[in-house]
Amino acid sequence: MTTALITGATAGIGSAFARRFAAARYDLILVARDTARLDQAAATLRDSHGVTVEVLSADLSERAGCALVEARLADPDRPVDVLVNSAGIVTNGRFVQIPIEDEERMLNVLVRAVLRLTQAAARGMAERGRGAIINVSSVAGYVPQGTYSAAKAWVTTFTEGLAGELAGSGVKMMAVCPGYTHTELHERAGYDMSGIPEWMWLEADQIVEGALKDLRRGVVVSVPSAQYKALTAMARHAPRRLVTRVTQQMGRRR
Ligand SMILES: NC(=O)c1ccc[n+]([C@@H]2O[C@H](COP(=O)([O-])OP(=O)(O)OC[C@H]3O[C@@H](n4cnc5c(N)ncnc54)[C@H](OP(=O)(O)O)[C@@H]3O)[C@@H](O)[C@H]2O)c1
Repeated sequence: MTTALITGATAGIGSAFARRFAAARYDLILVARDTARLDQAAATLRDSHGVTVEVLSADLSERAGCALVEARLADPDRPVDVLVNSAGIVTNGRFVQIPIEDEERMLNVLVRAVLRLTQAAARGMAERGRGAIINVSSVAGYVPQGTYSAAKAWVTTFTEGLAGELAGSGVKMMAVCPGYTHTELHERAGYDMSGIPEWMWLEADQIVEGALKDLRRGVVVSVPSAQYKALTAMARHAPRRLVTRVTQQMGRRR
């Protein structure tokens, strides 16, 4: 049996990855903080797909929570074949007003946990000569818009670099960069998203289908939608000052 460990597996994109891997008959390890919700998600996946589902209740912004998941990933007796780093949060507000502890907590989840879990998983995968790590990044990483976008730029660049280092090892690395996706992320952070036009919204299942198709094709940075492929191409090639100005104006309108 093949096993996938998914962080942020109780909601949004992580939950869509969990459903997709369960449907493909993978055993699962689901990671998030809310234990009751984890148990509920595990029961639903067991019932609908007949797979084995473990749950790990862990706060990835805390060292102890992260260490718990690292230990599970590094366990040589219970190998994990696929790691999906999808847990995420976003802060809301101007940098000078956001409590620094909130920014640091976000970096711990989006950067520190991704760094540590990736190494914990990649070592064993490289030894076994097979495995895949999918890091859920964001198109926000292509534009300068605060700590969140800087963290996502790190995730994408980190994943690309590691994909090069692990080329030929049998371990696939991929960063997936969604645009605005209907999940709980923005609501949890108290964003008013009513000004975002309908054409900019994606669905979590659509992200997962596109990402897994790209993973099979060996794509390292997956942008799974036509509209965001076009927007990221523009962001990469337009003058940086223009990209900064447009991005800041959009941020102010939200
Ligand atoms: N939605 C978008 O528009 C969008 C666009 C681009 C990229 N992304 C990225 O996609 C990923 C998934 O986000 P989403 O939109 O699916 O968000 P979501 O619906 O809010 O789900 C977030 C998941 O992460 C878990 N989580 C949050 N903080 C955690 C912590 N400290 N420790 C462990 N688990 C934690 C949550 O469960 P608990 O609360 O129980 O811990 C939940 O399962 C994130 O990395 C996000 O940055 C999202």
